[in-house]
Amino acid sequence: MSAIKYELIKEDKRSGARVGKIITPHGEIPTPIFMPVGTRATVKAMLPESLKEINAKIILGNTYHLYLRPGDDIIKKAGGLHKFMNWDRPILTDSGGFQVFSLSKTNDITEEGVTFRSHIDGSRHFISPEKSMEIQNNLGSDIMMAFDECVPYGADKKYTKDSLEMTTRWAKRCKEAHKNTEHQGLFGIVQGGMFKDLRKQSAEQLIDLDFPGYALGGLSVGEPMDMMFDLLDYTTPLLPKDKPRYLMGVGSPDALLEGVKSGIDMFDCVLQTRMARNGTALTSAGKVTLKNAKYKEDFTPLDDKCDCYVCRNYTKAYLRHLVICKEILSSMLVSYHNLYFTLKLMENMRNAIMEDRFLEFKHEFEKEYGII
Ligand code: GUN
Ligand code: ZN
Repeated sequence: MSAIKYELIKEDKRSGARVGKIITPHGEIPTPIFMPVGTRATVKAMLPESLKEINAKIILGNTYHLYLRPGDDIIKKAGGLHKFMNWDRPILTDSGGFQVFSLSKTNDITEEGVTFRSHIDGSRHFISPEKSMEIQNNLGSDIMMAFDECVPYGADKKYTKDSLEMTTRWAKRCKEAHKNTEHQGLFGIVQGGMFKDLRKQSAEQLIDLDFPGYALGGLSVGEPMDMMFDLLDYTTPLLPKDKPRYLMGVGSPDALLEGVKSGIDMFDCVLQTRMARNGTALTSAGKVTLKNAKYKEDFTPLDDKCDCYVCRNYTKAYLRHLVICKEILSSMLVSYHNLYFTLKLMENMRNAIMEDRFLEFKHEFEKEYGII
């Protein structure tokens, strides 16, 4: 029995969009959903209490970072990641199969696994599919991800094909190594670079292994947005209808709308909190760069359509002042708003799908946001 179940509630008749729910050991998640990123056992600048206030249903953690610091053995001793970080709702952990490639220095990829140097102190480490499962078992996340190779943008077809076939063999090893199936679900990750036939091959191979959910990896790695959207439209419908579908590392408002349209159920992205720390807010009228001098005497809220704590209590002039002075509170307040805004967008999409007006909602949002 899998720890993760999915219920399909409603399908949009005019697009791939759908509403459903994922049932996990730490509660239910309405989909489509956005997952705030808590790489190092904290969603940067956000109290767990604040995450609950903005109605975050699930957050993300990272195997690679938590293995290096503080060590998954310590988190296990603390009683698992939920207890360690004081978050009792669902957690999804990424496998490390992306971060070892994007963050660590030298890495040697073999059939057995990946040898890499820590980005923190240069020490040598080895992560295999079995090791990634062991770490994620120690973390105790509700959803674990298979250990994969994220192929860099521009990789040729031969490299991409060999890589996705190894990712399939790794996924099989992950499944065999994962014993705690009653408390943690394991998702497979579709690779295949920018090649449609390879995406199909990867999806088919992983579907044969029968995971309780499937992710699309290796996207938003430098390709043009339209190329990603085209690959999404092609690949998402290849995945089983009765399982959740997760688009990894993607979460700008335009990509969330396109992803949901193609049938994606789950997203994560560092953009909301990273932009917040740079003083940029996402609003219904587009991005607001708070450093801009035009906000110096702007005593209106960040977004007059937003009813979050920040928009109800602070002005752009004040937030700009905090950003200019590099005050810690600027990161806190703008992160709060950006995450609230994004979670609200997902809720609005779910409601629109339920009411058969998803494409109209998408069009209206894009017009106001300034995408079209
Ligand atoms: N995060 C964003 N893209 C990827 C990917 O391709 N693989 C994994 N494991 N994580 C990701
Ligand atoms: Zn707000």
